[in-house]
Amino acid sequence: MSAFSPRVAVIVVAAGSGTRLGAGLPKAFVSVGGLTLLEHAVHAVNGMSSHARLVAVVPAERADEVRELLRPLASEAVVVAGGASRQASVAAGLAVLDEAIEVVLVHDAARAFTPSEQFDAVVEAVDAGGEGVVPGLPVSDTIKRTDAAARVVDTVDRSELVAVQTPQGFPRGILEAAYAAAKEEATDDAALVAAIGHPVRIVAGAALAFKITTPADLARAEQLFGGSALTQRVGLGTDTHAFADGGELRLACLAWPGVPALAGHSDGDAVAHAIVDALLSAAGLGDIGSVFGTDDPRFAGAHGDVFLRAVRERLAETGWRVANVSVQLVGNQPRFSPRRTEAEAVLSGILGAPVSVSATTTDGLGFTGRGEGVTAIATALVASRRPIS
Ligand code: CTP
Ligand code: MG
Repeated sequence: MSAFSPRVAVIVVAAGSGTRLGAGLPKAFVSVGGLTLLEHAVHAVNGMSSHARLVAVVPAERADEVRELLRPLASEAVVVAGGASRQASVAAGLAVLDEAIEVVLVHDAARAFTPSEQFDAVVEAVDAGGEGVVPGLPVSDTIKRTDAAARVVDTVDRSELVAVQTPQGFPRGILEAAYAAAKEEATDDAALVAAIGHPVRIVAGAALAFKITTPADLARAEQLFGGSALTQRVGLGTDTHAFADGGELRLACLAWPGVPALAGHSDGDAVAHAIVDALLSAAGLGDIGSVFGTDDPRFAGAHGDVFLRAVRERLAETGWRVANVSVQLVGNQPRFSPRRTEAEAVLSGILGAPVSVSATTTDGLGFTGRGEGVTAIATALVASRRPIS
C-alpha cells in the first residue's frame, strides 16, 4: 500500500464462469493477443487520468494466481474471491474497500477493451452530479416484444432505449445502500441503485466497451486486439559518469568492492541510467531528468534499481511492458566479464524481461581509455497490446 490513498475504486468483476463463451476456463482468463481479458481490463484501469484503487474479484481458486499476474501490472491491487452471481461478486468487492474511497466504479472484466477515457468520464460525471452514472449506447436494431410462442406482440420505441455498459459509477454510500437493500438478483448495479429510489444518469458509452459473451465476440476482440495489434517501439539511452576519488562502485545494480564509485547525484550507476532512458524514450515518456528530476532530493544517492522499478511501474501504468533490453558498458574498469551473467540476472529480475549486458574498452582512447569514467549505451524494446495513440 502506498502512503497516498486514492478516493476512487474500480471493482473489476472477473469471477464468472463464461458458460456462453464455452472456452473451458473462466472467461476473464481467456487470452486475446497474448494477454488475458483480466489483464486487458487492468490496463484500461491503469490508463485512467488519476490513480484509482483496483479491486479484482476472481474465482476463489485463482486468487493466488491473479495476485502473481497483477504484481507487475498493479502492485497495489486488492484481489478477492467472488460469489455465485455477479451481484455476489460485486458485494465481495465492496466489502474490502478502504475508508478513503468515495466513488466506486463497477466494471465487467468481460468488457476488457473499454477505453480508459470511459472510466474517466464516469468518475467526472459522478463527481459533478453526485448520482449514479452508467455509460450507454443508443440501440440500433429494431426491438420487438414477443410472447411465449415467439409471436411479435409489438414494436418497442427504440428511441427510448439505451444499451448500457460498464464501468457503472456511484457515490460509495449510495451503492452500499443499494447492495444492502438488494432483494433480487439484477444484472447490473444501476438496477439496484434505481430500486432504492436513487437517480442514475447515462453518459456516452463506446463501441469498444462491448462485452465478450459469445465465441463471435471473442473472434471480434481477437481481430481488433490480436497479434497484429501488438505495438512495439524501440528506444535508446546513454549515460556517462566520471570516477570519484573514493567510495565503492555501484554498476548494473551490483556493488563492486575495490573499484571507486562513479560521481553523480544518485549512485552514478550509468548502466541502470542508460536503461532507464532507453525505456522511457521507447515508450515516449520523456527522459530520466524530466521524469525523476535530477535535483530531486528523494533520489539523492538512490541506487539504480529504484529508478528501474519506478520506470517499470510507469510503463505498466501506461499500457507498456518491457520486451527486452540490451546494454553495453564502455570502460576499462570494472572488469565486467566475471559478473556479466550475474548482472543480467539481477537486471532481468528487476525489469521482468530479458536484459543482455556486454562490456568493451576503447583501446586506450578517449576518457574511457584513460580510465576517467565510463559510458553505458542501452537499447530497449517495449510492447503494448492496446492501441497507443
Ligand atoms: N461475474 C462475476 N461473478 C459471477 C458471475 C459473473 O464476477 N458469479 C462477472 C464476470 O466475470 C463478467 C461480468 O460479471 O466479467 C459479467 O458477467 P457475464 O458476462 O455474464 O460473465 P459470465 O457470468 O462469466 O458468463 P456466462 O453468463 O456466459 O457464464
Ligand atoms: Mg453471467
